[in-house]
Amino acid sequence: MNEINIMSIQLEPTKSIKGIKPSYIREILAATTKKGMISLAGGLPDESFFPMQIIEQAMDEIKSDSSLFQYGSTQGHPALLKYIQDTYVPNKDEDALICTGSQQALDLIARAFINPNDQIVMEAPSYLGALQVFELAQAKIHCVEPNNDFTGPNIEALEVIFKNNDIKFFYAVPDFHNPTGICWSLQTRKNVALLCEKYQVYFIEDAPYRELRFTGEELPLVSSLYKNTITLRSFSKIATPGIRLGALIAKKDLINTMITIKQTSDLHSSVPMQALLLKLLTHENFESHFDKMRRHYQNKHDIMIKSINKQLNGLAQASAVAGGMFVWLKTDLIASENIETFARMLLTKNVAVVPSNVFYPQDFSIEKQQPGLRLNFTHATADNIEIAIKVLKEEMTKLSKV
Ligand SMILES: Cc1ncc(COP(=O)(O)O)c(C=O)c1O
Repeated sequence: MNEINIMSIQLEPTKSIKGIKPSYIREILAATTKKGMISLAGGLPDESFFPMQIIEQAMDEIKSDSSLFQYGSTQGHPALLKYIQDTYVPNKDEDALICTGSQQALDLIARAFINPNDQIVMEAPSYLGALQVFELAQAKIHCVEPNNDFTGPNIEALEVIFKNNDIKFFYAVPDFHNPTGICWSLQTRKNVALLCEKYQVYFIEDAPYRELRFTGEELPLVSSLYKNTITLRSFSKIATPGIRLGALIAKKDLINTMITIKQTSDLHSSVPMQALLLKLLTHENFESHFDKMRRHYQNKHDIMIKSINKQLNGLAQASAVAGGMFVWLKTDLIASENIETFARMLLTKNVAVVPSNVFYPQDFSIEKQQPGLRLNFTHATADNIEIAIKVLKEEMTKLSKV
């Protein structure tokens, strides 16, 4: 028999993927598994607060129901879908779609509604996962920076962008923003709703941290003030991230379009995990468990802020937040172009943080970026948070003496 000469074929990635940043954040997250590393880097909940007892009981019930292991409906497992509709869909002309994490919701929106060069606005800095989705969709991204009083985006700057461009979407995280931790004030929410109405811009409200408020009063969703909105909910921070479940709330015709896209993507999200989530959310002990978790996060947050104020005085500053998972450490000691090098150096001291540059789009000039570090306060132990801030102090003090 003649031998077949097998040549390997070189596959070129698409042009759109070439624009995506090589993920330094993946590198950091990989480093966080290293023994002895203290990670303030990921947006990870505290595993010791996963509701394992309720999960175990729910799994026991699920494993005896074979129908949950059959193919399911794209829109969602009917019982969970009904719970989500009843809890999160206030308007009759809207509906919900259960997604494989709210990350999939972002991807569905982009694939359904964003053509190359469509113009969108994002906050800067902004959630990296959203940046990647919109860059992959080849959207033209405009950025609005936060105002100085930590209450949301600069409204005057937002209006200038809306006025001078044909903007399709404004994507934002009003409740405990990733990475800055900012929670928009009521006035900011009203102003954004009015501006979106005036300039006919669709608003994407990403709300994965909304339920993680540990102090102050809950503020209305922008989507309750303005009707042209797509809202993303996530169960990663309420339940656990590994079950990969989130939901998208929008007008029914939009939901129908996105159901078609989701069908091409994964047919449906995991049915057993949807059944598990429903059992979790409706369990009689879930609310009290969740309250305990919020208090635990508040305690760690307070320890981090106290430690920053004490140790980093004159070197860096962070504002306290009312919920979520992150505080934003600003510093004038390190220029934006050096912030990634500083974060890499911290890895060698066994501390992982995320530098500000990863939260800006590719073409956002580095000089205009606000140098800073995103610090997560939910994952590390209280003791380790204090150790990590001490390491930051040592390394920043060295810089201040140069
Ligand atoms: C602002 C924001 N949106 C969406 C997501 C994705 O969350 P999920 O786990 O629901 O996919 C995250 C994850 O950290 C996030 O910070």
